[in-house]
Amino acid sequence: MNPAGATVLVTGGASGIGASVACHLRDQGARVWVVDRDGEALDHCRSLADPRGQIGWLPGDVGKPDDVDRVVAQVEAESGGIQVLINNAAVLRDQTLVSRLGKRVRQHSIVDWQETLDSNLTGTFLMTRAVATAMINARRKGLVVNVSSVVRSGNPGQSAYAATKAAVASLTVTWAQELAPYGIRVAALSPGFVETGMTRNVPAMFLERIRSESPVGRFGTLDEFAHAIQFIMENDYFAGRVLDLDGGLRF
Ligand SMILES: NC(=O)c1ccc[n+]([C@@H]2O[C@H](COP(=O)([O-])OP(=O)(O)OC[C@H]3O[C@@H](n4cnc5c(N)ncnc54)[C@H](O)[C@@H]3O)[C@@H](O)[C@H]2O)c1
Repeated sequence: MNPAGATVLVTGGASGIGASVACHLRDQGARVWVVDRDGEALDHCRSLADPRGQIGWLPGDVGKPDDVDRVVAQVEAESGGIQVLINNAAVLRDQTLVSRLGKRVRQHSIVDWQETLDSNLTGTFLMTRAVATAMINARRKGLVVNVSSVVRSGNPGQSAYAATKAAVASLTVTWAQELAPYGIRVAALSPGFVETGMTRNVPAMFLERIRSESPVGRFGTLDEFAHAIQFIMENDYFAGRVLDLDGGLRF
């Protein structure tokens, strides 16, 4: 699919990788909408990255069915039909399952567990269900790109996050097969590391270890991830698979 003229909806596009992808695809001639639940980040990103107002900026929580239905209906009406959905929105709530702290044992918070599942996994499910329904109703071909992570095979301290990213990779295989008869291609990108709002609270020592253990000796750049999304769009043979863009990192 050629990005020029394509109608693209990016979730979690008010910062980091999502914002970079939204701006990159706009610059390639795509018509881009962004949904994000962080209103302040939306306003900030809109004024900084989109001074000419070419991108549609919509508030909404992808983990909430009503928000998803509202956003998808609005973009469908304004754009004439979504062709590409990029499921990028996610949160990171790192902690161990249980750990001894002095005399007591601290447990993983159920609130953080549920919040991670709602945004990263249920959000991907709800958005894809709504957009695929619209595409099938309109007999319109399309593309869904899920964003997974290099830690999807498991990483200490990341129970919830790694589990959701493994699930997103699994859904990519399932949906690629289920939606192929309708002309909807499904694929995924699995980033290594790039410094964004998400990595702000990751301990510096841990980030430094990751950086030094990477065969390329550095993190990725936002441009490199945006370019990878463009590759997935343009290459119609890439389906049901996860593109690992992680500088050769292994956990
Ligand atoms: N930064 C990295 O090193 C890295 C590594 C591997 C994978 N990823 C993945 O890349 C994607 C983007 O991450 P990032 O680093 O740009 O993070 P980020 O925190 O900068 O951006 C995530 C955006 O998603 C939004 N969001 C979160 N939950 C939402 C919800 N329920 N509804 C709507 N919006 C929501 C946030 O408000 C934020 O603007 C994520 O899927 C993340 O898991 C990032």
